[in-house]
Amino acid sequence: MKSQLLILDFGSQYTQLIARTVRELGVYCEIVPGNLSFEKFTFYQPTAIILSGGPASVNIEGSPKVDSRILSLGLPIFGICYGMQLLAEALGGKVGGWSRDGLKGEGASESSSDMREFGRAVLNITTAKGIFEKFSLGQETEVWMSHGDKVTQLPTGFESLAASAGSPCAAFCDQNRKIYGVQFHPEVHHTPKGKDILSGFIFNVANLKKDWDPGSFINKTVESVIQKVPTGNVVCGLSGGVDSTVAAVLVHKAIGMRLHCIFVDNGLLRKDEAQEVVEMMKTLGLNLHFVDASERFLKALDGITDPEKKRKAIGHMFIDVFEDEAQRIDAMGISAVKYLVQGTLYPDVIESVSVIGQAVTIKSHHNVGGLKENMKLELIEPLRELFKDEVRKIGHELAIPDSFLYRQPFPGPGLAVRCLGPLTNERLDKLRVADKIVRDEVEKAGLNKEIWQSFAVLLPVQSVGVMGDGRTYEECIAIRAVTSRDGMTADWYMFPEELLRRMSSRIVNETTGVNRVVLDISSKPPSTIEWE
Ligand code: XMP
Repeated sequence: MKSQLLILDFGSQYTQLIARTVRELGVYCEIVPGNLSFEKFTFYQPTAIILSGGPASVNIEGSPKVDSRILSLGLPIFGICYGMQLLAEALGGKVGGWSRDGLKGEGASESSSDMREFGRAVLNITTAKGIFEKFSLGQETEVWMSHGDKVTQLPTGFESLAASAGSPCAAFCDQNRKIYGVQFHPEVHHTPKGKDILSGFIFNVANLKKDWDPGSFINKTVESVIQKVPTGNVVCGLSGGVDSTVAAVLVHKAIGMRLHCIFVDNGLLRKDEAQEVVEMMKTLGLNLHFVDASERFLKALDGITDPEKKRKAIGHMFIDVFEDEAQRIDAMGISAVKYLVQGTLYPDVIESVSVIGQAVTIKSHHNVGGLKENMKLELIEPLRELFKDEVRKIGHELAIPDSFLYRQPFPGPGLAVRCLGPLTNERLDKLRVADKIVRDEVEKAGLNKEIWQSFAVLLPVQSVGVMGDGRTYEECIAIRAVTSRDGMTADWYMFPEELLRRMSSRIVNETTGVNRVVLDISSKPPSTIEWE
């Protein structure tokens, strides 16, 4: 889908939030690296651009810059934090202040080194126009600041629109050229009226049209799948999770029974999961193939304990199994299978691909980084542009029941990333018992919708315990529960004490080989949701 608005990313942890908010406002947008070449930029042909924030200082040598030809195209531009500073510097103004390594940037004013502004601040609107069209003159509004540098001299043709205690110029514009910048972050929820400001840029300044809703996405995607695969067969790796289910139903809508959904038991599923998923899938009318590849997977994982090696091995084995199944379908005499559908989401793509070398690869998600280089099947990833909450909306529109759409996410590599250390049947069974207890208790307590994910993790740590009159030396289970909006960040969830007591005592009593239960109280960042 062609995007009217392009977000140039300079490494801010909030860039995805900008994209989400813009889409919530009904405008399709994409994120590209901030140092994108001019030639590549023109390929996108956007009608407006946003420059994201970022951790660098424009005054430090080697800091990321935007190609000046992009700024001269006459497009409406909105710079956020570092993006505003880039605009100021590129257009002839000055930026001063603290920089990351403690040096004062060039052009810093005398007292600027102590002017860092982090956290909540009050913004006073001194000119209510453009991005501030929904505000009134002199209005005060709360905003979220996170900067050391700031604009100390306006470029020619610019005027200041707002001020905060630490930034006399907290927002600026050149109204004629439709270039705006703000020092704060309108995209985070700590800026309560931030959506109005982004909306001011999108609709009032840039005059963009609403082009993004679930219905139009479904129609466009169905059309493009039909065009891509007018004949022949397609396979889809179905996990029973929200993403692959929505992807499958969407492609099924386009090509019907030519879509063969493959559900693989990789030996890393939760207790009773294989039967449950098969039952659920039947109700959706999909063309389902069930493959029991548990032995193949566990053999490939034998002796591997390193998390990245586990992920890669599982990703590769999935593709081998899909390719074999595709060959089996070919051999059935119907036309050849050339495509594989996957439920890859936008955050998977962004998290796996480094943006200007700043967002490092944290984990190779099995449906992105874990793919084989010599894969024979071509990919169809209909959800590659979507965030999780958008996928749920598409799912509703496709009449997929809530029982699918609100299942807790379960990672492609399954229990492998929750069973730390060697993956043996015995250890996986141990984890399955503990995990089922956590799942059942959370369900019984009616907490499923409130919690993003809750599960057990088996740790390869033995500790001493006492059971009856005997000494034990056994492994340990960690209980992990988090709340989150999209899995990108997460807060640990505090279960009621009674529930924790019940889970703990059931786990040590019902799981052979476990004598200790601990609670994981880490948020993301700095931890991740899964342990591996
Ligand atoms: P992390 O552990 O990176 O997880 O904080 C974020 C979210 O992604 C899920 N996850 C995965 N999902 N394939 C998937 O389909 C994977 O390889 C994978 N790894 C993590 C995780 O369960 C959480 O919801």
